[in-house]
Amino acid sequence: MDSSFRPKLIDFHGVSMTHYFTDNWDNVQNFQARPDDILIATYPKAGTTWVSCILDLLHFGQTSPERHTSMSIYDRVPFLEMAVPSVPKGTELAENLVTSPRLIKTHFPVQFVPKSFWEQNCRIVYLARNAKDSAVSYFHFDRMNMAEPEPGDWSVYLQRFMQGKLVFGSWYDHVNGWWKKKQTYSKIHYMFYEDLTEDTGYEMDKLCSFVGLSPSEEQKKSIISMVEFDNMKKNNMANHSSIPVMDFKISHFMRKGKVANWKDHFTVAQNERFDEDYKRKMTDPTLKFRTEIDIAAV
Ligand code: A3P
Repeated sequence: MDSSFRPKLIDFHGVSMTHYFTDNWDNVQNFQARPDDILIATYPKAGTTWVSCILDLLHFGQTSPERHTSMSIYDRVPFLEMAVPSVPKGTELAENLVTSPRLIKTHFPVQFVPKSFWEQNCRIVYLARNAKDSAVSYFHFDRMNMAEPEPGDWSVYLQRFMQGKLVFGSWYDHVNGWWKKKQTYSKIHYMFYEDLTEDTGYEMDKLCSFVGLSPSEEQKKSIISMVEFDNMKKNNMANHSSIPVMDFKISHFMRKGKVANWKDHFTVAQNERFDEDYKRKMTDPTLKFRTEIDIAAV
C-alpha cells in the first residue's frame, strides 16, 4: 500500500484521532460487554501485543495450544475501535468470539471506553510504558504503518508527542486518566512494560491472581518462553507480518523490545526539554515510570 493512503489527524472530542478509529463510533459505544470480558487497554506501543499473547496463552494455551501459532493475535484479541475498509471491524470480531472470557483490546483514553464495560464491572488490564520509549517506538511504527499519519522527522515527531498530537492523543493524559480511574474502579490492573521486562514471571503471577487463574509452574515456564521477544518476533501470528499496510522494509513491528532504547534517539537537548515538560505534566507523585532498568538483573 502506498503512502497516499495515510490518514489525517483529526480532533475528536478533544483527542487526536484518525477516522480508522472513529468511523465505527456508534457501534463501539453501543458495544455490549459481558461480565467476564477482559479489556486490555494501552496507549499505543506499550506492549499491547505482548500482554495480549500472555493473557491468551494463560486462558486458552492449555486447551488450544495451536492458537498461538495458527491464529493471528488480531483475531484472538480483537481491536475494538478498529474500522479499516475491507477487513472486519473490531466490534464484529469481538462479537463473533466464541471463547470465554473474551479478550478485547483498546487504545482508547479512559473517557472513550464504552459504558457497558463499566456497567458489567469487567476486568481491565492497563499496560503502560515510559514516555521516552513509547515515543521512539511509536515513531518507528508510524514510519512503517501506512495507516498512520505521516510521522515527519524525529525532532518534529517528538514535539508532536509532547503536544499530544498523535493518534489516541496525549500519552500524558492517557496514563494519568487511567491511573485516576483506578482509584474509583477497583477492577483495573495497572502494570508497566518495564516491570514486565524485568520479571515476566512475577508480573504473570500478579496477572493470574487478578484474572483468577492458577497455572502450573510448567505451564508458566512454557508461556514465558513463548512470549520472549525473539520467539514472538519469529511467530507470524504475533509479529504482524501479514498486515499489508505495514512495510517491514522500513521497520519491524517487533523492533527492539527493550527498555531505554530512547537513549539511541534523544539528543541531550531533546532530553532536557522533554524532562522539563514532563515535570510540568506529570504532577501525580503516585504514578512513577522508569526510563531504564538494571539490565544485569534481567
Ligand atoms: P519497540 O518498538 O520498542 O521494539 P504494541 O504491541 O503496544 O504495539 O507495542 C509494541 C512494542 O512492544 C514494540 O516496541 C515491540 O517490540 C514491543 N514488544 C512486543 N512484544 C514484546 C516482547 N515479547 N517482549 C518485549 N517487547 C515486546
